[in-house]
Amino acid sequence: MKIAIGSDHAGFELKEYVKRILQERNETVLDVGTTGPESVDYTDFGLKVAGLVSRNEVEKGILVCGTGVGMSIIANKVKGIRASLAFDLYTAIQSRSHLDANILVLGGRVTGKGLAEEIVKNWLDTPYEGGRHQRRIDKIEAWENSYMDKE
Ligand code: RB5
Repeated sequence: MKIAIGSDHAGFELKEYVKRILQERNETVLDVGTTGPESVDYTDFGLKVAGLVSRNEVEKGILVCGTGVGMSIIANKVKGIRASLAFDLYTAIQSRSHLDANILVLGGRVTGKGLAEEIVKNWLDTPYEGGRHQRRIDKIEAWENSYMDKE
């Protein structure tokens, strides 16, 4: 699977860790940065990953900032993005099976590496169930088509 990954400085260490997990799984990883611990703006990297997912240049995205909240806010402003912040396995799995989330967001200052690894693996391995859930996603998309410009 082709996956874009990005973080700010607060998510950098966890982003690098997650990148190694993805590479060990033989996923194709597109790292948009950041490239070190120097202070940067989560908005810039969130928009890069969200744009790649929105344009179908990658299948899924993973974003990491300190809390995960900033990345969630900015990614969900991009048309076609369903970004899910997950601090636990239940949320991660449900965000795929019920919501067809296309971006996973992690909090680098909140979630430890061991839990983050399980969250990432379960999120990637959980298929969307469709069925009754599609009606709600159709409503989100109808709203996007009425009110949002692409990017
Ligand atoms: C950066 O200091 C921090 O504000 C940011 O990573 C994030 O936590 C925002 O949600």
